[in-house]
Amino acid sequence: MSHSPLPQQAIIAVIGTGAMGAGIAQVVAAAGHRVRLFDARENAAKDAVKGLRAQFVKLAEKGKISAENARAAGERLCAVDQLSDLAGCTLIIEAIVENLEAKQTLFSTLEAIVGADCLFGTNTSSISVTAIGAALKHPQRLAGLHFFNPAPLMGLVEVVCGLATERRVADVLFATANAWGKTAVHAKSTPGFIVNRVARPYYAEALRLAQEGAADYASIDAVMREAGGFRMGPFELMDMIGHDINFAVTQSVWHAFFNDSRYRPSLIQQELVDAGYFGRKSGRGFYDYREGADKPIAQTEAPQTPTGMIVLFGQSPLSHALALRLQQHGVLFTRAPESDGRIAEVGDATIFVTDGRSATQRAAESDLANTVLIDLALDYNTATRLAMSAAAQCQTPAINAAIGLFQAAGYTLSRFRDVPGLAVMRTVAMLANEAADAVNQGVCSAVGADAAMCLGVNYPLGPLAWADRVGVNTIYTVLTHLGRSYGEDRYRISPLIQRAVFAARNLHD
Ligand code: NAI
Repeated sequence: MSHSPLPQQAIIAVIGTGAMGAGIAQVVAAAGHRVRLFDARENAAKDAVKGLRAQFVKLAEKGKISAENARAAGERLCAVDQLSDLAGCTLIIEAIVENLEAKQTLFSTLEAIVGADCLFGTNTSSISVTAIGAALKHPQRLAGLHFFNPAPLMGLVEVVCGLATERRVADVLFATANAWGKTAVHAKSTPGFIVNRVARPYYAEALRLAQEGAADYASIDAVMREAGGFRMGPFELMDMIGHDINFAVTQSVWHAFFNDSRYRPSLIQQELVDAGYFGRKSGRGFYDYREGADKPIAQTEAPQTPTGMIVLFGQSPLSHALALRLQQHGVLFTRAPESDGRIAEVGDATIFVTDGRSATQRAAESDLANTVLIDLALDYNTATRLAMSAAAQCQTPAINAAIGLFQAAGYTLSRFRDVPGLAVMRTVAMLANEAADAVNQGVCSAVGADAAMCLGVNYPLGPLAWADRVGVNTIYTVLTHLGRSYGEDRYRISPLIQRAVFAARNLHD
């Protein structure tokens, strides 16, 4: 049953007026509610109101809202000096310090002030909603209302149910967040909720690639952007988030899952934190942001010629895109309708998309010494750069012919060490695996998981939709091979993916 949002005349309180609380207050006031702001720090709430009024004026000057709406929204904000001023509020959202005891104390104090029907929302990003609720007389009224930073701009709100949360409360908050112009998704209170859990492999696989010397940071970032379609590569993104924060989130999710190896933190990141290299904010992280520091450039293969006959096989997205792009560049080739998985042959080289095996293993198992592998791309038609690797047995002229072929089709190539699964394929497979497990464990729906990742962290495609597009069989194969290569439980395959494969279904079916 769908519930109605809170009516516009409902008064909403925001407690904690730092980065998140101020942003949330902006969203709520813009949506037409009167908002009372409280902060334990003297004058913080008053300053937040001043800042938000100025922000509304700025938005009006930019033409995003009318001057009248800016004035009205500003007037709906009111700083209060004590918690008792929050009696009469319909919903109280807390965005105070990330500390269980502080949040428990706050909400139990509020219970003595507000009416029995007042709802509580916590913006916690990592604390169990169940644990916060445990301190309340009426824990059924509390749900997570997890906004993303910056709250006025990010479209997602995770509505998180603790064990005692009443479903009606979550449904009302869900409808209310939607009425505020956000996309709400339901989540069960489990470590990392949806986004902070499903996003872990985006960082972790990149860190593992770097640790294995697969490629330098700039090359992995460039491939994830230009082939993967992600807005930021994992290393530049971690540098922006700050390694202290990113590492703390990873550790908290890992501990909360009782040290499940799937979430194990990285020694490389630990080193950065130990060194105080927190990223952009401290001038150094994976990259050096100090004045005069060189900007690292992604490794790019030197121009080669595709010597020898070019044959494209089958109708896979890559062979299809190669055909179109070679045609556009006036390069001659022939096509073979059938494919045993191979994408192309050029000279002595045989080219495949990675299936999670190293090129060397694949070359040995298929008795094709001159094996060259290409990474996954979000869209091979528009991708500008691809990662590639070659088998240890592969002869240099064959590698060069393969490089020349992709360059002739207009791709820039970054050559990786021969690691299993390359970058985009391996990351997408693990993102999909994590999202599938969240769905399988009832944390969220498949639609919710994908929406959360697109809106919460700007992924170009939801991981489950991406797995459906690549083929669930392919994801299963890649994970199987990664598991065999590393012998680690980390790559165990979600039962949801296994069932989809055996039922020949998509993950979204
Ligand atoms: P912040 O440090 O910018 O702001 C926290 C504010 O709460 C401060 O103004 C502080 O004076 C006030 N405060 C602390 N204890 C208080 C108490 N007991 N009563 C009243 N006010 C109190 O922190 P930020 O980044 O805004 O985070 C707030 C909450 O939102 C945390 O739970 C955090 O985990 C969560 N969150 C943070 C995100 C982020 O990217 N910064 C994203 C999503 C959630």
